[in-house]
Amino acid sequence: MARAFPTERPEGCALVTGASKGIGAATAIALAADGWAVGVHYGRDAAGAQATVDAITEAGGRAFAVSGDVADPAAPDAILSAVEAELGTVLALINNAGITDDGLAMQLDDDAFDRVIATNLGGAFRLTRRALGPMVRARYGRVVNVASVVGLNANAGQSNYAASKAGLVGLTKTIAAEVARRGVTVNAVAPGFIATDMTTDIPEGQLGAIPARRPGTPDEVAACIAFLASDAAAYVTGSVLTVDGGLSA
Ligand code: NAI
Repeated sequence: MARAFPTERPEGCALVTGASKGIGAATAIALAADGWAVGVHYGRDAAGAQATVDAITEAGGRAFAVSGDVADPAAPDAILSAVEAELGTVLALINNAGITDDGLAMQLDDDAFDRVIATNLGGAFRLTRRALGPMVRARYGRVVNVASVVGLNANAGQSNYAASKAGLVGLTKTIAAEVARRGVTVNAVAPGFIATDMTTDIPEGQLGAIPARRPGTPDEVAACIAFLASDAAAYVTGSVLTVDGGLSA
């Protein structure tokens, strides 16, 4: 017997920010495999975004590359409008684009603090705010924010990044409560060490702290995001799913 979930996805698409590589690229490909048409957002790496689009279209899916600096307050409307024109209403928004600019708090300058907050937290807020209206009108939506275990537990040298990711957790829970009755869910994943360009400098010794004794892969995070974006997750909202090999346990 087919499994029945109370919501059925209307016509529309998914948008993944920072999908030119790493977790974002894996997520765009995973969502396409689940039947989503995907807006593949990128900052500057057009070739990377095209590679993600090609991977999706070669597998028979539909994808469209769109650029924009998520830290720019004008970007969300430009990005969403371009994706809507090409693929229809954005019914799943994956706020994945993010940066680090590490340093001990005593030495961290204003620019490093402000840039990380503006990109990781401000960008996610403004994109979500822009995306929610059409989702509410469709009475269906999925927002997944890519937070981090660093937003849940201390990591010396990353106060700006930790604040941005802890902020994303607060944003996730609060907006989830605001839109839950409209059929829109808002969740976060909190990855631990995932092997991407962002983690090339992690000392081997730190891997010993992970109960699974290995870094995660972008595909392992993407699978969790795809679940949270699926019909099957209709009753999951305001949650933070750690994807960290047991690190934060
Ligand atoms: P990555 O560096 O490979 O990818 C980050 C993506 O964000 C890139 O495509 C980049 O172009 C984009 N981006 C950054 N700033 C942008 C801006 N201002 N405008 C537009 N695009 C921008 O890193 P990774 O590892 O794939 O990270 C993806 C997300 O996962 C980030 O939010 C990161 O904080 C988070 N994360 C990563 C972990 C890891 O161990 N790799 C662990 C926990 C969270």
